[in-house]
Amino acid sequence: MATITLNPARSRGSIHRNIYGHFAEHLGRCIYQGLFVGEGSPIPNVKGMRTDVVEALRRIGVPVLRWPGGCFADEYHWEDGVGPREDRKRMVNTNWGGVVEDNSFGTHEFLELCAQLGCEPYINANVGSGTVREMAEWVEYLNSDGDSSVVRRRRANGRQDAWGVKYWGVGNESWGCGGNMRPEYYADEFRRYATFCRRYGDHALYKIACGPNADDYAWTETLMQRAGRFMDALTLHYYTLCVDSWDVPKGSATQFGRADFYKALSRAARMDELIVRHDAIMTRYDPQRRVGLIVDEWGAWYDVEPGTNPGFLYQQNTMRDALIAAITLNIFNRHCDRVVMANLAQTVNVLQAVILTEGERMVLTPTYHVFDLYRPHQDAREVDCFVESDEVGEGAWRMGQVTASASERDGVLTVTLANLSADAPVDVRIDGAEARAAQGRVLHGAMDAYNDFGDERLAPVPLADLRVQDGVVTAQLPPCSVAAVRIERA
Ligand code: AHR
Repeated sequence: MATITLNPARSRGSIHRNIYGHFAEHLGRCIYQGLFVGEGSPIPNVKGMRTDVVEALRRIGVPVLRWPGGCFADEYHWEDGVGPREDRKRMVNTNWGGVVEDNSFGTHEFLELCAQLGCEPYINANVGSGTVREMAEWVEYLNSDGDSSVVRRRRANGRQDAWGVKYWGVGNESWGCGGNMRPEYYADEFRRYATFCRRYGDHALYKIACGPNADDYAWTETLMQRAGRFMDALTLHYYTLCVDSWDVPKGSATQFGRADFYKALSRAARMDELIVRHDAIMTRYDPQRRVGLIVDEWGAWYDVEPGTNPGFLYQQNTMRDALIAAITLNIFNRHCDRVVMANLAQTVNVLQAVILTEGERMVLTPTYHVFDLYRPHQDAREVDCFVESDEVGEGAWRMGQVTASASERDGVLTVTLANLSADAPVDVRIDGAEARAAQGRVLHGAMDAYNDFGDERLAPVPLADLRVQDGVVTAQLPPCSVAAVRIERA
């Protein structure tokens, strides 16, 4: 039995829609083949963007898309990716698989993709191997309408008006692949680069500093102390691993036992502690909570699918991943007073993708369906939600059986919850809602079940046994499940 007590009078504020953001890097088959196939492809497309993938992403309301990396960002030179395609520079993608990058997907293509998705662009610019001038001119190319040579070039390349890009990342993982910098050094670099990223007309930038890797609290401390007043947000990267080191095989995405199942879920739940502790440091320097925390890389990371390029990070996606997404998104919702954006790594064909493609075929992963179930939280008012449940787990990897978060919009409450038990159902009671009516949808399956090409078995179904009595909602959640309950209040 689990009890979820809602207190609609208490809220941490609005859940920013950007918490449901995504990340697409020039990595493996994410951009090329996954999102962009080119105008001449037999795969149906609009201006080179896959129609099936764009339509599927529109259905989950992708609010913001981060690009071009990742590690790739600090080797990316934007000028190589504008102008006639046949003249664009070729490079070898040294981070990811050593494949040739022909720059056929560049600035104009990315902004076309965002327009088709109806989402905000978030560009992560190059500090590691770029220059201040290069970054400053990219901003000018994107956002200025002045009569400069840079703007004339944009116009010659087919875009008359400034796009007005807002979200601007200054370096990626500058503590690692982005330059192996010390926090003191990066803090100064951030201040210098950010200074020359100008505001053009109404197009004010939202400047995002590279934040810590997982529990590197010293990085957060130094950045906030030395550069906090120059930034609008700080990032956090945290991946769910089933192993204790990055130097050993990470385990299969589909072949695993209960121990690895519960280990992954508890590792995902660690996101809460990371946010709490980074937030505490940020609050010392920023008690008004002006600076946002952006978790712009998160998700599960396993070994690649057998027989695929190890540098392409292509992995399958099971119900275990659906639970990881549910746990993580519930945590973000509950920290909406600091977490203003998050970007799942990565959108298509890479890591914990919401979509997989194979030639012209496409499959929606269990993680996709979690984003669909959670969509009503976007821009809704968070509602305080207290969960009491039994423990589940194996060995050291133990946790509460049920995770939940809640929000309200126009008198309708949405409660998203997951049953983390691999094999036991759970009866749930939702108190405090003064419910008049309720409906629910649930995604469930065996912990290692997944959707494959031609065999798409997992998708949300109506939540049976949902009852409303005396304002209280009760339901039974199947084992290994994620549900969204919509409650109309009396
Ligand atoms: O998402 C894959 C990689 O993980 C990114 O390129 C990098 O930022 C992180 O280490």
